[in-house]
Amino acid sequence: MLTQPTLRAWRPGDAATVLAAFSAPEMDRQADRPVDSLAAASRWIERRAADREAGTAYAFAVVDEADVPLGNVAVSAVNRVHGTAWVSYWTSLAARGRGTATAGLRALTDWAFTDLRLHRLELGHRTNNPASCAVARAAGFTVEGLQREKLVYGGVRYDVELHARLRGAGGAAR
Ligand SMILES: CC(C)(COP(=O)(O)OP(=O)(O)OC[C@H]1O[C@@H](n2cnc3c(N)ncnc32)[C@H](O)[C@@H]1OP(=O)(O)O)[C@@H](O)C(=O)NCCC(=O)NCCS
Repeated sequence: MLTQPTLRAWRPGDAATVLAAFSAPEMDRQADRPVDSLAAASRWIERRAADREAGTAYAFAVVDEADVPLGNVAVSAVNRVHGTAWVSYWTSLAARGRGTATAGLRALTDWAFTDLRLHRLELGHRTNNPASCAVARAAGFTVEGLQREKLVYGGVRYDVELHARLRGAGGAAR
């Protein structure tokens, strides 16, 4: 169980790990562009660095004791006027089911409230993704509602459940 994760910026040397992670089923939906080659994985890492530089999004590798990336947690759509942002997460297939996403999301949330001084963090998951829902609840993201037929994949429309956590409202929201 990963209870004390380390978050760090993605590095050029992580490209092979990123490529492997995006080869898992459903992972194509987690990328802004296809990550289907080592070069594409390198570009994915470069875009993360550019977003960080621009102050628009912050993606972190969740790494183990050996500095091996197990997954990604990210804050995007940062709105400085309202103090809001969107969060997202994925983990490598081999790292799943041992608390990586939950520990990573908790650490990301603390960082976003403390370092970015944000007030409200939002996330959404398809209603047929119970693992993502469990991660959100365990990291203190309260369910706020259902967005009907918001996403379409392969011609099928999916409802999305919206969760959010406010600064100062800690703990799990089960
Ligand atoms: C969703 C995802 C990030 C979870 O990562 P993870 O590291 O395995 O998550 P954790 O181990 O921290 O927690 C998983 C939780 O989901 C639960 N879970 C896993 N599969 C489940 C299922 N089929 N039904 C119900 N709960 C499930 C686990 O029991 C655990 O909950 P618990 O802590 O209450 O026991 C990972 O599966 C993933 O990357 N999926 C593809 C990308 C994705 O869907 N990202 C989220 C988009 S909204």
